[in-house]
Amino acid sequence: MKISSFIHFAAFGIKTILLKKRSPIVGTVILTDKCNLSCKHCSVNNITTILHPYAQIKNEMRQLYDIGVRILFFCGGETFLWKDGNHTLKSLVAEAKEMGFLIVNAVTNGTLPIDLPEADLILLSLDGDRSRHNAIRGNTYDTIMENVKNATSDNICFYMAINKINQCAVRDVCIAARDATNVRAVSFNFHTPYPDTRELALSKEEKKQCCEVISAMKQKGFPVFNLQSAFPYIIENKFPTPCHQCVVIENGKISTCGRCVEIPGLCQECGYFFAAEYSLLFRGNLKVAIEMLGTYLKYI
Ligand SMILES: C[S@@+](CC[C@H](N)C(=O)[O-])C[C@H]1O[C@@H](n2cnc3c(N)ncnc32)[C@H](O)[C@@H]1O
Ligand code: SF4
Ligand code: SF4
Repeated sequence: MKISSFIHFAAFGIKTILLKKRSPIVGTVILTDKCNLSCKHCSVNNITTILHPYAQIKNEMRQLYDIGVRILFFCGGETFLWKDGNHTLKSLVAEAKEMGFLIVNAVTNGTLPIDLPEADLILLSLDGDRSRHNAIRGNTYDTIMENVKNATSDNICFYMAINKINQCAVRDVCIAARDATNVRAVSFNFHTPYPDTRELALSKEEKKQCCEVISAMKQKGFPVFNLQSAFPYIIENKFPTPCHQCVVIENGKISTCGRCVEIPGLCQECGYFFAAEYSLLFRGNLKVAIEMLGTYLKYI
């Protein structure tokens, strides 16, 4: 991370905590909900299948920039399916950097060839060892691992959503993150129980056991991107929600924290680690701040 970016984030953090401000710093643009997969745990794919036009996406990026967002994510649907004329995910990432975003990341299912050195991080969903991953995401594990190996840059971070099907495969994904070429780390979330996937949610006890495994792996030196200091709050769902420093824009509509904010009661069962980590950070949790600093400097 550049020193100028670090100064910007530090100043934002101090202002937010001291003045109890609610301005955003992390933003996500949804490029499309179109997807080539239909994962068992997902409730947001192929609802409209529209690839939003370039002019609209550019306008949404500008809107987020203008309200102060400096950490930008592109998400979907499947982000690598997005295109409009000559514009692709690759050109969008480059444009976001030119626009002034300080960190630009993309989230992908990894089933298409990966050529995105322009991104700071490519969050690539891997949901377990081959059998557990394929049980959730169809027969895609080998294709993904081949794409990871052939990626043109080493900025990949595995992204695992832990649920009833794959809770026993946390270790496998840590090992894959350590051993795979081009992979820097792994970042975990717990399943967030949308109304149509409630049966995949973990109990508090199961979340606790997963966090113990993640902590143990982190202590053994495996490259884990999550913050241990936030685990107790995540297990108990005792963090302030929604996180006001995060926003999402989809088809012109801005939501605070996530698109899921509109689903009644869902925030009380939220499994997204970022929501806990950022909301604790910006409420002035010192342990989270120190651990986040170390983690971001190590992996970005
Ligand atoms: C919606 S997908 C979009 C990007 C891309 N298609 C992918 O799969 O990475 C973004 C991430 O959200 C995760 N996800 C989907 N539904 C979830 C849920 N209910 N709870 C937690 N994570 C979820 C996916 O596993 C994926 O890592
Ligand atoms: S690949 Fe991503 S968007 Fe597509 S169904 Fe799976 S989780 Fe949902
Ligand atoms: S806290 Fe944020 S990410 Fe979690 S369910 Fe609520 S809106 Fe979604």
